[in-house]
Amino acid sequence: MEYRINCIGILTSGGDAPGMNAAIRSVTRTAIFNGIRVKAIYRGYSGFITGEIKEFETQNVSNIIQQGGTILKTARCDEFKTPEGRRKVYDRMVEEEIDALVVIGGDGTLTGARILAQEFNVPIVGVPATIDNDLFGTDSTLGYDTALNTIMEAVDKIRDTASSHNRLFFIEVMGRDAGFLALNSAIASGAEAAIIPEKETKADQLAELIKNGFRKSKNSSIVLVAESDVTGGANGLAERMRREYPEYDVRVVILGHIQRGGSPTAYDRILASRMGVAAIDALLDGQRSIMIGVVNNQIVHVPFTKAIKDDKPLDEHLVSVLHILSI
Ligand code: F6P
Repeated sequence: MEYRINCIGILTSGGDAPGMNAAIRSVTRTAIFNGIRVKAIYRGYSGFITGEIKEFETQNVSNIIQQGGTILKTARCDEFKTPEGRRKVYDRMVEEEIDALVVIGGDGTLTGARILAQEFNVPIVGVPATIDNDLFGTDSTLGYDTALNTIMEAVDKIRDTASSHNRLFFIEVMGRDAGFLALNSAIASGAEAAIIPEKETKADQLAELIKNGFRKSKNSSIVLVAESDVTGGANGLAERMRREYPEYDVRVVILGHIQRGGSPTAYDRILASRMGVAAIDALLDGQRSIMIGVVNNQIVHVPFTKAIKDDKPLDEHLVSVLHILSI
């Protein structure tokens, strides 16, 4: 029997990411273009449970492509992690006559979507949006490029004051358990090193690298540190450096949530627009439980199970680029 989609639900969930609004716009307009109604669900799975739902027309997504954050709001929902919570979401879908879902978010969002799809046989397509870029099967997630640029601009500013004072800065960036932001922003900002969870860096190695830099008349050193229990974070490293090498004038900057805000870059806006169209095309094509990805600039479909469970490998070439250029 052919399954006809008359109405889709759309939501954003987990940490917000620049480009989410561009994706909401694209999904909404592509659905309407294809004669499908769109119901916008507010505050992610939490708003689904409580029924914060509004039908969207094309004008509801006007003037948002350039805005950071998400007009749909977002949340991390513990209730949705329980079978009872997911049952409430399914019942709400039936009540609202929503036939399929497009969920926009990161690892947690897609994990929840995968279970819901399996338990209730619901067609769901995911659009990857997280500044962490930690989903397998896509070269980039929405928000990652914007966050990289935000970090690069911040580090450029810190470099001015670092070199004026001959200081050593440890700058901590987000990424949850992944080092993509730290490694790539280190290359983009000409940092001396990146401390990332995927690669062990011994304190002595780091000290040697910094010492070399200063010896070669560099007048500042900047080390990008990925937040993670494995790296110990910027404060942990700085403490150790102060203790073992008191000659350095050490400072710490934790960039924090500034990395998640701001207007999306052209790259993120275009990617979001392409992924939104691809999400609706995939649903119309009968696809389900897949994430839209981009590989070598081509749109691809990645099964939820792979996107979530497989570890996204770090590009070793980038590690050596940073190493060669920082000496
Ligand atoms: O997943 C996105 C992210 O910004 C991570 O980089 C970070 O560890 C986490 O979310 C922070 O979450 P919250 O905003 O809930 O503190």
